Amino acid sequence: MLPLAGLSPEQESLREIAQRFALDKIRPIAAQLDERAEFPLAVIKESHALGLINLTIPVELSGSGLSIFDACLVIEEIAWGCAGFATSMVANDLALTPIRLAGSEDQKRRFIQPIAASGEFSSFCLSEPSAGSDVAGLQTTVEDGGDYWILNGAKQWISNAGHASQYTVFASIDRTKKHKGLCCLVVPRSTVGISVGHHENKMGQRCSDTCSVTFDNVKVPKDHMIGAPGEGFKIAMQTLDASRPMTASIAVGIARAACEHALAYSKERKQFGSPISSFQGIQFMLADMATVIDSSRLLTWRSAWLIDQGKPASIESSMAKRFSADSAMSVTTDAVQIFGGYGYTKDYPVEKLMRDAKLLQIYEGTSQIQRIVIAREMLKG
Ligand code: CAA
Repeated sequence: MLPLAGLSPEQESLREIAQRFALDKIRPIAAQLDERAEFPLAVIKESHALGLINLTIPVELSGSGLSIFDACLVIEEIAWGCAGFATSMVANDLALTPIRLAGSEDQKRRFIQPIAASGEFSSFCLSEPSAGSDVAGLQTTVEDGGDYWILNGAKQWISNAGHASQYTVFASIDRTKKHKGLCCLVVPRSTVGISVGHHENKMGQRCSDTCSVTFDNVKVPKDHMIGAPGEGFKIAMQTLDASRPMTASIAVGIARAACEHALAYSKERKQFGSPISSFQGIQFMLADMATVIDSSRLLTWRSAWLIDQGKPASIESSMAKRFSADSAMSVTTDAVQIFGGYGYTKDYPVEKLMRDAKLLQIYEGTSQIQRIVIAREMLKG
């Protein structure tokens, strides 16, 4: 692949650590995890010891203290190893970010620090069976129960949910107020009334632990609300703005892996007496792959850099997520095409990459939702 220009020696060494981990610890087990839909608990614990999860959590809260930009460098490498593994890592940052952005100092100390220090898992509970793209339409309710908040509802597609010890939950205190009625609550898994569904049998990213979570009259202490009642929608959107470059990096890692496999195979595979890499049809595919991967990475880096500077970056985050996700889908599809019939079997790695890529166009806001965010920002002028 092309060298990455402009990184500092510290950033290069961070990438090398993550790539070494992906090469030695993740790639050797990726196919087996995929086959068995097995959550890589032991290896994620090892990544915690190396500081490769809770990447954007400040050091004083026992995280790795990386900028979003530097986190993206790590995540691309981990996703190059296995996208489901990367999703499981990023899900922890996603769940802790609402508290990092909107929690009080006391809440950060109580709800972020113990998770980051221990290597436990946390889940971001926004999506519901009937509310995926339409966040303002979510149906989980929170009522004032005097000494407690009372939480009722169901969440769907929740990453890490089966292994999480804490949930960051979005719920409505007044459904007539739509987005202005949403709240954000931190809910310990041990609270009575919580039930967690099975690890979903997904098409791709099969090792990531995606489950439903149900809340049945769950009593949540009053001081577990992050921000004020009604601020939940804004907190969720700000969290997704900050998280989308990291998700885009997962797409870049998948696409890079697929391109590398396709390039190597095209030099080995002979047809009509020549390596298929000598044919322009294949060369054009490889050139387009490299170009969209580089474009995806540059859009991702720009959005990460803007967020790190404290600048508004909704449009740039959505552009990065949309373009990287769609590019990962096209690059992995072309990689399967270059492998031909072999690419369509589980004996070669590219079919997994294609299945893994599809989820990037769906989770953390579909490619269509990203376009809506981009167009609305443009139309605002
Ligand atoms: N930052 C701050 N405020 C924002 C904002 C942002 N990025 N985006 C919108 N707002 C504000 C708006 O300014 C508006 O404010 P006012 O009330 O003052 O007018 C308010 O929020 C409502 O905004 P919209 O009118 O744009 O709201 P909407 O209902 O039309 O929805 C949406 C907008 C972009 C479609 C939003 O619902 C959305 O992002 N949907 C996608 C949800 C998503 O990404 N889900 C992923 C789940 S997490 C996951 O997948 C992770 C995993 O586990 C793998």
